[in-house]
Amino acid sequence: MTALPVSPAPAPSPAGEPLVDVRDLKVHFPIRRGVLIDRIAGYVYAVDGVSLQVRRGETYGLVGESGCGKTTFGRGLLRLVEPTGGSAMFDGTELRSLKGEQLRRMRRRMQMIFQDPLSSLDPRQSIDSILSEGLKAHDLYGSQETAGKKLRETLTAVGLPASALRKYPHEFSGGQRQRIGIARALILQPDLIVADEPVSALDVSVQAQVINLLDDLQVEFGLTYLVIAHDLAVVRHISDRVGVMYLGGLVEEASSDDLYADPLHPYTRALMSAVPVPDPEVEDARQQILLAGDLPSPANPPAGCRFHTRCPWKQETRCDTERPELRELTPGHRVACHWAEDVKAGKIRPHEVSVELVRPSGAGPGDGRVTETVAEVAGTLPPKS
Ligand SMILES: Nc1ncnc2c1ncn2[C@@H]1O[C@H](COP(=O)(O)OP(=O)(O)OP(=O)(O)O)[C@@H](O)[C@H]1O
Ligand code: SF4
Ligand SMILES: [Mg+2]
Repeated sequence: MTALPVSPAPAPSPAGEPLVDVRDLKVHFPIRRGVLIDRIAGYVYAVDGVSLQVRRGETYGLVGESGCGKTTFGRGLLRLVEPTGGSAMFDGTELRSLKGEQLRRMRRRMQMIFQDPLSSLDPRQSIDSILSEGLKAHDLYGSQETAGKKLRETLTAVGLPASALRKYPHEFSGGQRQRIGIARALILQPDLIVADEPVSALDVSVQAQVINLLDDLQVEFGLTYLVIAHDLAVVRHISDRVGVMYLGGLVEEASSDDLYADPLHPYTRALMSAVPVPDPEVEDARQQILLAGDLPSPANPPAGCRFHTRCPWKQETRCDTERPELRELTPGHRVACHWAEDVKAGKIRPHEVSVELVRPSGAGPGDGRVTETVAEVAGTLPPKS
């Protein structure tokens, strides 16, 4: 494939070193109430103390249920939303301290790809105009001739013909539009691409093509990816390491192989147990863990371990009072569970869980407290016989 022309960039950190180093990142959205007098009635704790590193050249997959804060984490890292607390280092620079021109220049190195390529591409702009826009914004356009060459080379790199330049987004299929979204990021020669659900809007057959393209581009251009997805199969395929988020926090992190072979956090175990296994014998023999209730509101997260209202392994002590730290259990495998060793060793067993209702924020005295236990719900399903 064609190499993109290289523009001056700060000396990169060596492969394997952290390119992104996030510590205790928080993004809290204020909940505003009142017509005449604007008052803050509470906060949505969308991201609430996430620490992780993404190494140069790797793909880090971030998974979790809808609403757990994956997109907000990505946007907070790139400062597309303003973090409330914590630190986000990018190639040795604290992103939270950057302003104006410095931030704008750094943004070229950190690009984002979105889930829905159609809504992220302006339907009134030709592909030429969409790709040129970024070059102009970052003073990389140069002459029409050099820009034209860059545009054509970038399209070739994402598998599209140069004739695409004259067309408009609606003239392409979903997969081709995502290729254009990738080209728009790639043309700026970023170090990091945050891909937010990059294939979830695409047909399954097209998903594999786009994932393979991302793989190829990573090798060719030395890219680092943070891939956000709820589809565990996609994340497994593409990621070197995976982080699992639950209600604004990271609950487990490991190499992709380790995580899928030996999930240690009760939440990850439940997620994994819901993924069908192709081997019918293994599928029939394995135990499925059903999670009771819905994801609690991030405006009202449960005290202690945020997973305790749904955890089939929940214990009498610590679980509902102390928030567990993410700690290394085996080399490279971090888990935020007080009882992870005992869960791993099988010393404590999953049990039935009752759904707990939490008073919604703003409901008056007792906001956020568990008020009622409404039903007994099975915590685990026995192996199929
Ligand atoms: N601008 C905002 N203002 C207030 N709340 C927000 C805002 N953006 C996101 N949220 C809330 O923050 C929480 C996390 O949202 P986020 O979009 O990050 O989740 P997600 O894990 O990406 O979910 P999905 O898988 O559905 O994309 C949700 O409860 C969401 O409603
Ligand atoms: S700390 Fe307790 S509630 Fe949380 S995951 Fe571990 S066992 Fe479950
Ligand atoms: Mg999202």
